[in-house]
Amino acid sequence: MSFNFIDKTQYTLDSFLLMDRWLIRMIINTSNVWPEFAENLSLALASKPYVAWYCMKKAPEVQERVEQLVNSAPINADAKQRKDAEEFVVQATDTSIIYTDPSNMIKNCNYIYNWKEEYLLELVDFNNKLVLDIGSGTGRLAFAAAKLARKVYASEPTDMLREYMRDKINKEHISNVVVVDGTVEHIPYEDNTFDIVMSAHVVGDNYEAEIAEMQRVTKPNGYILDCMGEDDRIREKPDEEMLNRGFEYLYHKSTLGGDIYRYRKQVIKN
Ligand SMILES: C[S@@+](CC[C@H](N)C(=O)[O-])C[C@H]1O[C@@H](n2cnc3c(N)ncnc32)[C@H](O)[C@@H]1O
Repeated sequence: MSFNFIDKTQYTLDSFLLMDRWLIRMIINTSNVWPEFAENLSLALASKPYVAWYCMKKAPEVQERVEQLVNSAPINADAKQRKDAEEFVVQATDTSIIYTDPSNMIKNCNYIYNWKEEYLLELVDFNNKLVLDIGSGTGRLAFAAAKLARKVYASEPTDMLREYMRDKINKEHISNVVVVDGTVEHIPYEDNTFDIVMSAHVVGDNYEAEIAEMQRVTKPNGYILDCMGEDDRIREKPDEEMLNRGFEYLYHKSTLGGDIYRYRKQVIKN
């Protein structure tokens, strides 16, 4: 699904060369379930063999599929058809391509711009706490929490975004944010490590497993937060999946027009 996070005329398939293995795998696998995407990806990859080569080397698990796509591309396509196919793929993968361009991510993604730190800081007391942010992105939540917390681990599976946060830390002499790799499915920390475990726009593919993993690394009586950013989406009610799992919520109307629900749960362990 495209969110128009990029101006497709400013990007090419070469953005794939900046992607991590998990993103390449996700994009190539999308071609198995979306025929129009497969058709365009096929011609786009055949037109740029070095991108096809990168995808196969970076994510060997999709090598066979990339070969199939390249081999099924029409050989007589003209320059316009090739350009159109590339633009289709770029537009369709905008939510991935934007991760390769963090400075535009901050400007173009509605969940980041206009957001106010108070929306996070009013959820719990961050003073002197040990915090984990899962899927930090450009560090919207991590850097806000770091103003009060003892230390924040900003966990992010995308290399370009990790490097963006590291550059910011160096430039702004931030001493209490540590950038690490990791996913919500497998959080690389011991049980009961953090006072606060937070995320935004990450939980939702598998609520049960993701929240269980977040709870595992949260100390008894610590908190799990989900603090989405701003958008223009009308929502009639909070996410029932979150309420069913014991989260309470705070609500505000976004300046962009959306209904924004933020979630909080205290983790009680026996
Ligand atoms: C929509 S962005 C949100 C970034 C940030 N949390 C925010 O709200 O500003 C989603 C982020 O989650 C990361 N991500 C994707 N899959 C993930 C996973 N399985 N576990 C943790 N993070 C993931 C992406 O690399 C991206 O940085």
